[in-house]
Amino acid sequence: MTIGIDKIGFATSQYVLKLQDLAEARGIDPEKLSKGLLLKELSIAPLTEDIVTLAASASDSILTEQERQEIDMVIVATESGIDQSKAAAVFVHGLLGIQPFARSFEIKEACYGATAALHYAKLHVENSPESKVLVIASDIAKYGMNTPGEPTQGAGAIAMLISKDPRILIFNEDNVAQTRDVMDFWRPNYSTTPYVNGLYSTQQYLDSLKTTWLEYQKRYQLTLDDFAAVCFHLPYPKLALKGLKKIMDKSLPQEQQDQLKENFEKSILYSQKVGNIYTGSLFLGLLSLLENSDNLKAGDKIALFSYGSGAVAEIFSASLVPGYEKQLSQTRLEELDQRQALSVEEYEHIFFAEAELDAEGNASFSGYEDQNFALAEIAEHQRKYIKVEKSS
Ligand code: CAA
Repeated sequence: MTIGIDKIGFATSQYVLKLQDLAEARGIDPEKLSKGLLLKELSIAPLTEDIVTLAASASDSILTEQERQEIDMVIVATESGIDQSKAAAVFVHGLLGIQPFARSFEIKEACYGATAALHYAKLHVENSPESKVLVIASDIAKYGMNTPGEPTQGAGAIAMLISKDPRILIFNEDNVAQTRDVMDFWRPNYSTTPYVNGLYSTQQYLDSLKTTWLEYQKRYQLTLDDFAAVCFHLPYPKLALKGLKKIMDKSLPQEQQDQLKENFEKSILYSQKVGNIYTGSLFLGLLSLLENSDNLKAGDKIALFSYGSGAVAEIFSASLVPGYEKQLSQTRLEELDQRQALSVEEYEHIFFAEAELDAEGNASFSGYEDQNFALAEIAEHQRKYIKVEKSS
């Protein structure tokens, strides 16, 4: 039996901040962002668009009615959760109309969570082959105004349907994980933005990559030669480019090195326009690769490097299924270009707005007509989500 990714959906917010504008407002050279970080734009989420609405929207874009009846597990991986107790997956399960006899829960380990969720989903389908699992990575990356991380913020969700006989990618049995207890990036319960040891975090990312890759090659007798592409966690694309250079095998034929570099360029196209979406970033890179590369074919192996601060890293691979392209979109870049551009002042107001609750814990919101799902109100401290009805 083969198990893997049957469908992939993506959702981001309706607003975009151009980094050229941010650079001008912050008095930094725009090339520091476009060349130093390899970023162009960031998705900016308003108060009414959170990890639940993004997760629901990404999932709704791929699921048929029948699949909603077949899914028996919903996992939301996030590091920007909206409740310390109730799982985002439970809200999402309700919004999507998934049949009731399902297990729904949230999973966390910084940007690594979705990789653990995929592995758990695979084990579940192994045990129960008719099951379908919805794995969603949903995050809003918010570092704060005038911080070094500000140009690497972002918002978005990736939804993946995991099943037997998948139509996009088959998971190979080759995962290698590594855990190291470090403080490179963390967010205590009392803080809405993370604490970051920026340079240290990049060193941890690259060292985790190097050491996990060495162990992976040793355990599975595989080399870069075996892969058509490598996808990386993308906190910002420049760091992943350094990662690719670190593991690039100079003894590979030039043609193969060129293919890996070309596919890397395709894998960063969406992140360059969306920014960091933490747990989803690796899979946004995978989606960008699959939808934009013109040199991939069925049977090709793709290596994936997952990294979550704190830190857990994992390398695993998946193989392309014949006809995989039929499950993908050809219009994603055009859709991203339809987001509404914000001035820096508007971004500061919209992205950092906080709900103003009255004494009973109530607040109601508006302006979400263009969203698919929305946080419409908070009533006695309960978040109330709706599917937004579109007038035709
Ligand atoms: N033109 C071109 N390039 C320029 C430039 C200019 N005028 N000025 C600077 N640069 C280059 C620098 O040379 C540097 O490139 P190299 O790394 O190749 O040397 C790059 O721009 C970045 O500049 P700085 O080194 O001065 O660093 P910074 O102040 O922009 O901060 C950062 C970078 C620390 C990563 C910051 O963005 C940050 O704190 N980000 C959040 C943390 C993060 O993303 N860490 C990544 C690993 S942790 C992880 O992966 C989990 C996660 O998602 C958070």
